[in-house]
Amino acid sequence: MAATRRLSHTVAVITINHPPVNALSSSVRHAIVKEFGEATKDPSVKAIVLAGANGKFSAGADIREFATSALKTVSLEDINATIEASRKPVVAAIEGVALGGGLELALACHFRVASAQSRVGLPEVLIGILPAAGGTQRLPRLIGVPAALDVIVRGRHVPATEALQIGIVDEVVQGNVVNAAIQLARTVIGTDLGKRRLSTNFVPSNPNMESFLDTTAEKAKKQFRGAQAPLACIEAVRASVQKPYQHGIEKEKQLFLSLWATGQPQAQQYAFFSERNVGKWTHPSGGRWDTIAPKPVRTAAVIGLGTMGRGIAISLARANIPVIALEQDASQLEFGKKAVNALLEREAEKLIKQGLTPAASLASVRFTLDFTELCDVDFVIEAVYENMELKKEIFRKLASVCKPDAFLCTNTSGLDIDEIASVTKHPHLVIGTHFFSPANIMRLLEVVRGHHTSLMTIATAMTLGKTLGKVAVLVGNCPLFVGNRLLGPYLEQANYLLEEGCNPEDVDRALEDFGFAMGPFRMMDLAGLDVGWRSRMEKGLTGNKVPEGTPARQRHGNRYSPVADMLCELGRFGQKAGKGWYQYEKPGGRFAQPDPWVKDFLQKYRDTHQIKPRPSNPELILERCLYALINEGFRVLEDGIASGPEDIDVIYNNGYGWPKHRGGPMYYASTVGVAKVLDVLDQYHKENPDVPSMKPAFLLKKLAAVGGPPIKEWRTQVGKLTNKL
Ligand code: 3HC
Ligand code: NAI
Repeated sequence: MAATRRLSHTVAVITINHPPVNALSSSVRHAIVKEFGEATKDPSVKAIVLAGANGKFSAGADIREFATSALKTVSLEDINATIEASRKPVVAAIEGVALGGGLELALACHFRVASAQSRVGLPEVLIGILPAAGGTQRLPRLIGVPAALDVIVRGRHVPATEALQIGIVDEVVQGNVVNAAIQLARTVIGTDLGKRRLSTNFVPSNPNMESFLDTTAEKAKKQFRGAQAPLACIEAVRASVQKPYQHGIEKEKQLFLSLWATGQPQAQQYAFFSERNVGKWTHPSGGRWDTIAPKPVRTAAVIGLGTMGRGIAISLARANIPVIALEQDASQLEFGKKAVNALLEREAEKLIKQGLTPAASLASVRFTLDFTELCDVDFVIEAVYENMELKKEIFRKLASVCKPDAFLCTNTSGLDIDEIASVTKHPHLVIGTHFFSPANIMRLLEVVRGHHTSLMTIATAMTLGKTLGKVAVLVGNCPLFVGNRLLGPYLEQANYLLEEGCNPEDVDRALEDFGFAMGPFRMMDLAGLDVGWRSRMEKGLTGNKVPEGTPARQRHGNRYSPVADMLCELGRFGQKAGKGWYQYEKPGGRFAQPDPWVKDFLQKYRDTHQIKPRPSNPELILERCLYALINEGFRVLEDGIASGPEDIDVIYNNGYGWPKHRGGPMYYASTVGVAKVLDVLDQYHKENPDVPSMKPAFLLKKLAAVGGPPIKEWRTQVGKLTNKL
């Protein structure tokens, strides 16, 4: 049964039961209507409690129904209107989550009691839509416009304690929430419910409200870069101000339909389900890790407390896993310890302010210089400098001091996992765990399987990723793995565009207008230009190793842009140097300003090489940079490094600032059409045969040849086509 009803003295308790998250599917909505109708008619029932089974109130509408006709049957807003109009008091008993339609249902109830661990919110904006069952109208009536916008536009999950402070719930309880709701229901039988019917109230307003809403919309335009849902949320809330409820509801409906027509909800919902599905697929090694029981990780160690190690140690401590952190010498250890403790203290203060108890304490991280202290840990993550010899030396030590069944992981950005594993006694226990910076904040984790990595090792690393609150994506072992590998051709094209006439800000603007959090040149300045320069030097692409007579614009017979190297030779390493592709207010400054010196430098470079500059063209910039990245994505699929297009999209959405409202690079390719991507690449490659990264991938050609099937069919197509490669 999708909903059940029982009687507790004079209170009917209706419990929604639709595992795993009590989504309000068509059958659940029908069941609520039936049970509520009967409870209303039953003269022995004096009040009603609405609750959710299995520790959750409800995660809202069933997102899978949006693309079907099921959504049209029994609207949730009609149910909400019936509940609110009830003459018998209705109390929502919120446990776990009340999100989206779940909270909208609770807002229609006259009272709300929440358990201390629960979270409430209207996160529809995160799946490209707006609350569409009265949420944009009832919430501002309850907590005022500024607080409602903060919750709705950011799609925040609000912890129960905060929900009580701002007035979303009436009571927070530590014990059994249904019992507390029953108790409250009994005390309000026969009381006046007038003000409790939120739709009948007016939204608190003031003369500055319109300009406040305008400013909020302007800020949202800048912050969400092309995403339409945040703006629609603001417009719907605007319609609640000094207008009758029904007016707002009409606006809500109309905005929902116009959002759907943009294609953004479909992209964001694809991204939502892709995130939940990564790792469920059979990967090219043939096995399914998710059918294997992971080993428990009770203790962990982190080697190296630099930028990455610190964040990783904090993530582990936050998940209540005691960590031993090891450094190479006393001063580095002290430096790392101070940084880790400061971050943990800051986090704890923030949580305490919100009325929450921090999971991680300073005591959860132990600091040492002694490898033998690692003899009992279950899971080790190495995060020392990106140097193969150093990593091998560390793994040799780990193999000799750790227990035989300890998992040994490397946080390398792209070195060969098999070579690192080769120095250990148990290569099947070695795996890559590629966190993103800052590791305590970024959600993405690439889990890199080596040739010998066992399914149990994969299962343990993937499960640990989830425990740490990360989106873990399993990828194969190749230079740079998936995310950084796709970045190569993208950055290459960005550099060529400068040679051909653009300035860094032209390229960045085009990609930021597309929705990227940061364009490629601002991103390189932030990461430090010297990182790539050092790696190009090691590959013999720059500096003394280039054979005499090599043309400036070629290396090993392929096109090469030396412009970034020339900047590095002048010490322009990016933000940390106060200058790079942009200029900054000081070394370490954060405000990138276009630099006339760079403009002049590029013009001189073009003059020297007799390049006639072309005017900047945002469409061309997008095609060149994005199609280069997408083409490499197809190669990654051909090579079996990612198991499907969704994996690549999840990586880009969560680790590289790809705009979620565009679904991810492979989803974007499917919306543009693989035939168009192929045409543009083909044309470019014919004109520029010395740029091999733009040679259309075999798989792209094959997909175009079979008529460019929808993305949900790519995974099977990839399997069929790659068998014939
Ligand atoms: N509809 C359909 N399926 C849903 C769902 C929903 N609203 N929410 C979660 N699921 C599914 C997931 O796809 C997953 O399915 P799977 O087991 O087949 O992979 C399963 O429920 C469990 O989800 P998670 O893996 O995400 O579980 P967590 O415990 O990590 O997180 C959660 C639970 C916080 C509820 C998270 O799933 C979530 O944020 N869900 C979406 C909430 C949301 O956006 N609600 C708004 C819906 S739209 C709406 O209500 C419109 C209304 O205004 C009319
Ligand atoms: P970092 O230079 O900030 O820190 C490295 C730390 O390792 C230093 O604190 C150093 O003292 C320590 N170390 C060196 N030799 C050691 C030894 N023998 N024993 C113990 N500790 C030792 O480097 P960062 O940026 O943290 O990178 C670490 C790894 O993470 C590298 O492999 C890097 O490629 C990878 N990575 C880096 C990312 C970034 O954005 N910085 C992102 C993702 C991965």
